[in-house]
Amino acid sequence: KKDPIRVAVTGAAGNIGYALLFRIASGQMFGPDQPVALNLIEIEPAMAALAGVAMELDDCAFPLLEEIVQTSDLNVGFKDCDWALLVGSVPRKAGMERADLLGINGKIFVGQGKAINDHAKRSCRVLVVGNPCNTNCLIAMRSAPDIPDKQFFAMTRLDENRAKTQLALKAGVKVKDVTELCVWGNHSPSMFPDFYNAKINRQSAAKVIADESWLKETFVPTVGTRGAAIIKARGASSAASAANAVVDTVSDLIKPTRGGYHSVCVISSGEYGVPEGIITSMPIRVDAVGNWRVVEGIKLNDYAREKIAASNAELVEERSVAFGQLGLSI
Ligand code: NAI
Repeated sequence: KKDPIRVAVTGAAGNIGYALLFRIASGQMFGPDQPVALNLIEIEPAMAALAGVAMELDDCAFPLLEEIVQTSDLNVGFKDCDWALLVGSVPRKAGMERADLLGINGKIFVGQGKAINDHAKRSCRVLVVGNPCNTNCLIAMRSAPDIPDKQFFAMTRLDENRAKTQLALKAGVKVKDVTELCVWGNHSPSMFPDFYNAKINRQSAAKVIADESWLKETFVPTVGTRGAAIIKARGASSAASAANAVVDTVSDLIKPTRGGYHSVCVISSGEYGVPEGIITSMPIRVDAVGNWRVVEGIKLNDYAREKIAASNAELVEERSVAFGQLGLSI
């Protein structure tokens, strides 16, 4: 009998949590033979709502779901977890400056990083979704010195999936025919979805679409501002597609990558001239024993390099503002 994989989820009573937990418990994240235990973490005011979510999980009678822990105590929530999905964060409110947001969330991720360091398994992998996710992830990583840096990730898979669909629609092909689409940089409108190296039926997407001005002036901003477009249309932010991207990210990180690569924000060691020590989105492959690597040898033209450099400059700036507020050294 397999031991369950213990997954801690913060913000578990939020919108993404509501779309995510049922997919984890049903086996879509770790496979149909893998039991799971869920450690649901919320802030005190949301504990009643969280109890309701847990009741619904109970009512699904998921055969793979072996335990539900509900807590607002991080030391309990991260105890022995194999994965920490950090979804909860404080949204920007009217009148709040970007620096305030970085500082407020920074404090949350210091606390969560410390609790992961002290209570999670050493092998725990951490995926940060709550925004600003790259910088939050960096802060959690720095606050968890006993967990290897390579076990920290932030999410750009939703951006990758959005970009693939936009290219497929434009080219009139199936979305599965679009591969090797890396979103580079920060999970923010400055990100760069690399349409030059993306493939449509194994050929360069830029060549197949053959409309550089559409790619630069319509496609790139459409992907970068898709979140805002969904809020405008739905009156609520993208939660189901974000949860879907969490499932995709985790399930792709635990198995060897077959062909191509995926976008994940990871700690930079200076690959492709990216500044070292930031959490930035790059193309990743997972090998047969489960280790990931940044894919080497991708050719980036001047336009791509400029876009990537601008997005990474934003991350360097976020780091300096957040670290300044938290009194951390770079
Ligand atoms: P939401 O507001 O519906 O839910 C957030 C939940 O987090 C709330 O239940 C809140 O009580 C909880 N929370 C707040 N602070 C917490 C803390 N310190 N510890 C534990 N729980 C805490 O928001 P939603 O829609 O679920 O989104 C969550 C985050 O994901 C947001 O920051 C959003 O910007 C981000 N996001 C990231 C995406 C990505 O691609 N990286 C895509 C979509 C959303």
